[in-house]
Amino acid sequence: MSIELKNVSYTYMPGTPMERQALMGINLTIEQGRLYAIAGHTGSGKSTLIQLMAGLLPPTSGEVMVEGVKLNARDKEGKKQAVLARRRIGIVFQYPEQQLFEETVEADVAFGPKNQGLSEEEISARVKESLELVGLDYEKFGQKSPFMLSGGEKRRVAIAGVLALNPAYLILDEPTAGLDPRGRESLLQMITDLQKGTGDREPMTIILVSHAMDDILRLADEMFVLQEGRLTASGSPLEVFKCWDILAEAGLEPPELLLLMEQLQEAGLAAEMPVRNFKDAVKAVERGLKKRA
Ligand SMILES: Nc1ncnc2c1ncn2[C@@H]1O[C@H](COP(=O)(O)OP(=O)(O)OP(=O)(O)O)[C@@H](O)[C@H]1O
Ligand SMILES: [Mg+2]
Repeated sequence: MSIELKNVSYTYMPGTPMERQALMGINLTIEQGRLYAIAGHTGSGKSTLIQLMAGLLPPTSGEVMVEGVKLNARDKEGKKQAVLARRRIGIVFQYPEQQLFEETVEADVAFGPKNQGLSEEEISARVKESLELVGLDYEKFGQKSPFMLSGGEKRRVAIAGVLALNPAYLILDEPTAGLDPRGRESLLQMITDLQKGTGDREPMTIILVSHAMDDILRLADEMFVLQEGRLTASGSPLEVFKCWDILAEAGLEPPELLLLMEQLQEAGLAAEMPVRNFKDAVKAVERGLKKRA
């Protein structure tokens, strides 16, 4: 089960003086259950790409397939299938808290499932479960006005609204933008918990747009690099972050942790081994020092 983009291009406002080709010849596959990151300089096409994946924008050329179903089908049966396939995907836009509008947290989270025509019982269960998943207590927050919450809490409510639609794929556009370090860390923890699946919950596929290379290094199974609308690299973060020339071309810096490790390794103070997070780094230094001793 997967999302597949086959030779996808997208042009904004074609045929007008404002015409702008935002994506060119993108081929990629999103496999279920993994965590993907999309990196790229501002204007490289990240937000456009995720809107195509979610079926919110139709490709100008090429094809987007979700679990084998073509999203831009023309015939009646194909269109019906595409609506169902699109429902498999949830998308959280940048600063999603700006889209909260109901009087209570409960009503805001219930909005999507209500629109899908689910029963009251099912809606209520989904609201409770989604709030729990984002770490907000239903009893405490359900009847509050979303506008009375902190920035981080508002964002969690907005994410709960998407989770309440039960997506198999969750796409998030820079979900940690503007949060303080603790808020960032706990949101990222929540996202990795969703990916792993908890209790009787299925693991979720996560697609994360991020400017934070260190987060990508430690969290992503696979990453994509966009440069001016083209996919210039894809693979595991450890592979991609070795390609410094491609990163530089794309206007990206390698993760700080890897820059530090390189210096330590050159100075013979750390062993050559894959380092994705601080814990790995400590191990590499311990091994390096042992070798020297
Ligand atoms: N609605 C639009 N109409 C016309 N051009 C657009 C529109 N949205 C985006 N673009 C253009 O398409 C290109 C890609 O934009 P996109 O928003 O996908 O970039 P991004 O990688 O998400 O950037 P950022 O990191 O700043 O969010 C940019 O050149 C942008 O100016
Ligand atoms: Mg964007």
